[in-house]
Amino acid sequence: MRRDRAPDTPEHPPTTNAVPRVRASMSSTTLNFHHRFEPGLNPGRPPILLLHGTGGDEDDLLAFGRVIAPGSALLSPRGKVLEHGMPRFFRRLGEGVFDEDDLRRRANELADFVADARRAYRLSPPIAVGFSNGANIAAAVLLLRPETLAAAVLLRAMTPLSEPPIADLTGKPVLIISGKMDPIVPAANAANLAAILSNAGAAVEALTVAAGHGLSQHDVTLTQDWIARL
Ligand code: MLT
Repeated sequence: MRRDRAPDTPEHPPTTNAVPRVRASMSSTTLNFHHRFEPGLNPGRPPILLLHGTGGDEDDLLAFGRVIAPGSALLSPRGKVLEHGMPRFFRRLGEGVFDEDDLRRRANELADFVADARRAYRLSPPIAVGFSNGANIAAAVLLLRPETLAAAVLLRAMTPLSEPPIADLTGKPVLIISGKMDPIVPAANAANLAAILSNAGAAVEALTVAAGHGLSQHDVTLTQDWIARL
């Protein structure tokens, strides 16, 4: 059983990005995904939609989110599909082989949840930050429901749909970070995703780091810097 782990993040963020160590966090089932919501401390910062990898949950990326986007509200749902007990955001038929009907349905369901959560928590469109399976559903939401997201960070992402719809992503910022030694995501597959999003008009920055499928400290700093520049 493999669990796609989020990176370990510093317990004490650097003082320049200091955030209070205790922040009110709501766990809610009133919207149609189990999720956590942490209100933003700085209303000027865009909210972050955190999407975990296979075997993760709504708690997995919270510490990561606080470090990469200090002051932002964090919205972190748990994927509804269970694969041998491990939460995911959509079904797959094998490693890297997706059930695309399920993926389309789940991407729309997630986009509906984000719209409901935006109303409930009074949020502007979030920046999705997805890791592995979470990155793949974020890419599908970008293509199927582009209005849902202001931007996206796709960490170890693959091409989600073999026949992507014609989406208008004009000017939407997207950061893709791939791992040079990733045994799960072939470089050509990640490059294909970058091309699909660029062709749809997104402002894509595609980077490769010296890492495998798991995240490295380099992913943390690149993501933090990119979000700060938005
Ligand atoms: C997926 O199924 O989304 C990708 O293979 C990544 C993973 O979860 O292993």
